[in-house]
Amino acid sequence: MGKIVVANWKMNPQTLKEAEFLFHSFCDALIGKNKISLIICPPFIYIDFLSKIKSNIILGAQDCHWENSGSFTGEISPLMLKNLGVKYVILGHSERRWIMNEDGKMINKKVKAALRQNLIPILAIGERVRNIGYENVLINQLIEGLEGLNKNDIEKIIIAYEPVWAIGSGLADKPQDTIKVIKLIQGFLNSKFKMKKSTPKILYGGSINSENVVDFVKEPLIDGLLIGGASVDKEEFLRVINIIFKYENH
Ligand code: PGA
Repeated sequence: MGKIVVANWKMNPQTLKEAEFLFHSFCDALIGKNKISLIICPPFIYIDFLSKIKSNIILGAQDCHWENSGSFTGEISPLMLKNLGVKYVILGHSERRWIMNEDGKMINKKVKAALRQNLIPILAIGERVRNIGYENVLINQLIEGLEGLNKNDIEKIIIAYEPVWAIGSGLADKPQDTIKVIKLIQGFLNSKFKMKKSTPKILYGGSINSENVVDFVKEPLIDGLLIGGASVDKEEFLRVINIIFKYENH
């Protein structure tokens, strides 16, 4: 399997027409590039429409609730997502942790609920500042997010390391620092769940663009990327996809 590229569109674009246009552009760009798995996570309201477009793009969601139905005004359930053909769901994104006040317990319930519907959770973790002890912040987010799961469950999930200070700031991490964090995550998963180094897949996210993407894709320990801002800029994202493809085939 080649690199995994997750496009997190966040609360963009503003019309279905624009979403359709972006989706078609990326779909055309993927033709013949089967070494890239592109997962697009649009706003919920565009998913149904985009799911009907025949393409190599896999659909993901940006969040879900922990129950399948009930009185949860404004929420979307993992079962609803599954019924629309969604395969992946980002959980614990820092914007949900810090702006919407989601805590580790809620995120853990969401991870379990997603797994019950056979959705692949992309569990996002990240420190707000890289100060002394930031590793403990990451390990705690893993402990909380994965609480009650077994080795079998962990094999199915994806972890996205997204330092909060790198998101949308234009200040991507240094790949060598990301590698240190990936080794930390692998060490934790090995000691707690006896996971092999190759599972689960670990992505990096935070200010990836066409200028820095190559520095990350050339690292074998980085299984892929979670891309926000650049993934709703058509020309920029096409450049990013092409660079990843060229690198995978060189
Ligand atoms: P960014 O966002 O690429 O705009 O930094 C990444 C993310 O929030 O997932």
